[in-house]
Amino acid sequence: MTTSRAVPRVLRSDDPEAAHLLEAGATLVSESWGARLTVDKDVLARCRAAVGAATAAGWSVGPVGSDGATDVVDLDLSAAADYPRTAATAHDPPEPGALAAALAGGTRWAFGAWAAGRLDAVTVLTDAGDRVETDFTVTRASARRRGLATAVKGAAVLSLAADGHARFGTGGAAVNAGSRRANEALGYVVVERWLHLVP
Ligand SMILES: CC(C)(COP(=O)(O)OP(=O)(O)OC[C@H]1O[C@@H](n2cnc3c(N)ncnc32)[C@H](O)[C@@H]1OP(=O)(O)O)[C@@H](O)C(=O)NCCC(=O)NCCS
Repeated sequence: MTTSRAVPRVLRSDDPEAAHLLEAGATLVSESWGARLTVDKDVLARCRAAVGAATAAGWSVGPVGSDGATDVVDLDLSAAADYPRTAATAHDPPEPGALAAALAGGTRWAFGAWAAGRLDAVTVLTDAGDRVETDFTVTRASARRRGLATAVKGAAVLSLAADGHARFGTGGAAVNAGSRRANEALGYVVVERWLHLVP
């Protein structure tokens, strides 16, 4: 019997098993997506425009050093309830000491937007080998829909591209329209969809 507590199976939308399960009556409980960006001059122009718009609106945008790890975690905790939780997109705030060490050691990067000294948005990224992958992006609730997620993501691409990184990856829950639009505004292209199916 299917119950609300059943654990969904996460399958790519083009996996024949997904079609098979749907035909057999499985319930689609949620969806997620993965996107990729390859740096080119158009992408860089979009990133510059996003950073410029946030700067013109009064935020300063730039890298977050290891001494900013606590601010990142505090901001992330303030928005913990706003992350859509699906079978494939749960998010746990980082531990401040571990984040500070990763930022200091260069294994993770963070880019933020500040107004009056307060961190209002941040994106945190990790080197995933063949690409730089976004770990999470968050904007303070009171500062949303002003282009800040787009700006900090744009700042990340600009800075890391200047250091030679050419491929970026990200993803999220289908219900998170803001996250997807921020990425697409910069040139991320959705390359995979995942179906969360309860048989
Ligand atoms: C998702 C999130 C980071 C977006 O931050 P933001 O600073 O408001 O995003 P932006 O202002 O850059 O908006 C980007 C685009 O998404 C749109 N958008 C933002 N929030 C939206 C929403 N709730 N519904 C529909 N569209 C939305 C904006 O209008 C903008 O579109 P446009 O370029 O066509 O104008 C923010 O809502 C948030 O912190 N959510 C909680 C944490 C989370 O879910 N993070 C993402 C997963 S890692």
